[in-house]
Amino acid sequence: MNNKIFQLTYRSRASEGIGKEQIMEIVEEAAAFNSRFDITGCLVFDQGYFIQILEGEKETINELYKKITKDRRHFQFEILSKGEATDRLFKSWDMGYIFMEDFVVGEKEEVVKKARKELDTISIKNDFTPKVFWYNVYTLLTDSKFYKSN
Ligand SMILES: Cc1cc2nc3c(=O)[nH]c(=O)nc-3n(C[C@H](O)[C@H](O)[C@H](O)COP(=O)(O)O)c2cc1C
Repeated sequence: MNNKIFQLTYRSRASEGIGKEQIMEIVEEAAAFNSRFDITGCLVFDQGYFIQILEGEKETINELYKKITKDRRHFQFEILSKGEATDRLFKSWDMGYIFMEDFVVGEKEEVVKKARKELDTISIKNDFTPKVFWYNVYTLLTDSKFYKSN
């Protein structure tokens, strides 16, 4: 498989009234659509912000991102990273998810929290910081009993 895949990471602010129940709806909706269009990714919710990575064919991802930005459940979009990659990171997830609020105290969780903070402090957006963040999220998702893949 030499097909390059496209990855896009953005951050947005959740609209008022968005809680766990609404996010579970979003994840289910997303997973259903994504599985049909060979899209994978992960959604992180932390203190009123979404951080999401979308992986798939370039056109498909750009179109999906356009659709997502029209969704009134969030606003203030900021692309943190986009570009081609040789492989998907969230291969087994139509849309993995993590609620940072649910984190139990643990070493892996702390690493993700730290990587999350890094995303705020970078002034020049480089690709490295989001990569480290997603790598840590991925590690947590694959290792933890608390998160399931779809
Ligand atoms: C934070 C967030 C992430 C979303 N991620 C996806 C996604 O990965 N895939 C998807 O199909 N829809 C996603 N959605 C939902 C879309 O914005 C949209 O509501 C949904 O695709 C249905 O759109 P339609 O009724 O126009 O088909 C997301 C919405 C939010 C608020």
